[in-house]
Amino acid sequence: MKILQNYSLLPHNTFHIDANTRFYVEIQSHSDILALKADPRLTSLQYHIIGDGSNLLFTEDIDGVVIRCNYNEINIVNEDDDNVYLSVGAGVEWHDLVTYSVENNFWGLENLALIPSTVGAAPVQNIGAYGTEAKDIITDVHTFNLFDGQSHVFSNTDCMFGYRTSIFKEQYLNQMLVHKVGFKLKKFDAGTANLSYKHLKDALDKNKLTPLEVYNTVIKIRQSKLPDPNKYGNAGSFFKNPVIDIKHFNSLSEQYTDIPHYKISNQHYKIPAAWLIEQTGWKGKQVGRAAISENHALVIINLGNATGAEVKNLATQVQNDVEQKFGIHLEPEVQMICA
Ligand code: EPU
Repeated sequence: MKILQNYSLLPHNTFHIDANTRFYVEIQSHSDILALKADPRLTSLQYHIIGDGSNLLFTEDIDGVVIRCNYNEINIVNEDDDNVYLSVGAGVEWHDLVTYSVENNFWGLENLALIPSTVGAAPVQNIGAYGTEAKDIITDVHTFNLFDGQSHVFSNTDCMFGYRTSIFKEQYLNQMLVHKVGFKLKKFDAGTANLSYKHLKDALDKNKLTPLEVYNTVIKIRQSKLPDPNKYGNAGSFFKNPVIDIKHFNSLSEQYTDIPHYKISNQHYKIPAAWLIEQTGWKGKQVGRAAISENHALVIINLGNATGAEVKNLATQVQNDVEQKFGIHLEPEVQMICA
């Protein structure tokens, strides 16, 4: 295992922030964890686990150890008449796994095409799009505890998945390094397309679909709505969609009759953060070298050479304006990482 010092994280975050870390390591085997623990230079430093850095923002240089897991295999470990069970290395690119699954005619991952992520980061963040979340197809998550070197397997229930969160993003943040993830996918004849997301259903108006057709349509929708991280650095949705209670919703809908909303229980409504931001006039606006995308108000973009602090500053201004106008606090979805 190589331990790199004063290492630029520029190739490791989709926001394209040029922050340095004091140490950087890539884990290829369990013995690397033991080597990491044994190195006296690293003992008192904070660990930061990353995948492809597609959901994080480095707000300054990191005086710690950035750790990435490089397990890279996709294996079919079991199957029955209806299902196939995969074990996938944490370092595999998420979109490559989705492509592999649709090429083999398996159902389950097609709605999650083109999400920038590694497989290891998918359960941490419970990535989701177009009516599917990672938790719907994950069976178990295999980890190494960075503090004691032990292996732990978490069942789907153990992961405590929530909206863009899990036990790995809360209680075990930067402690459990995911190295393999298990998935249960449906064989072609046993599955169907998940068209619960209206725009996807409208775009796929036919009866007999294949996972590949759904995948291609999801890619088209994403490319038409979301800025390409290769052009302008970004981390997808910057904030989560907030949930408000019915009293708050009723008072807002008197004033804003067109407020988009999803009823999530008798007492609670989810409001698209993008709409709230657009209403405050921020869509397309720039502060320093960061801006709110003109394509989608929930995405903050790096116009070129922005620092993490500049992006954070813009996010804070947006948060303040939404809070003032609607009395709603926007919680970042993106994880902000500082020294
Ligand atoms: N809207 C606006 N202005 C905009 C864009 C959207 O007002 O500029 C409103 C519209 O009313 C639209 C609604 O927001 O109907 C929802 O927009 P969209 O369908 O694009 O979804 P989203 O809620 O903004 C969520 C996820 C995305 C995921 C899409 C599709 C979160 C935080 N984001 O976005 O995930 O791709 O749904 O399922 O839940 C990500 O997590 O990084 C991400 C991109």
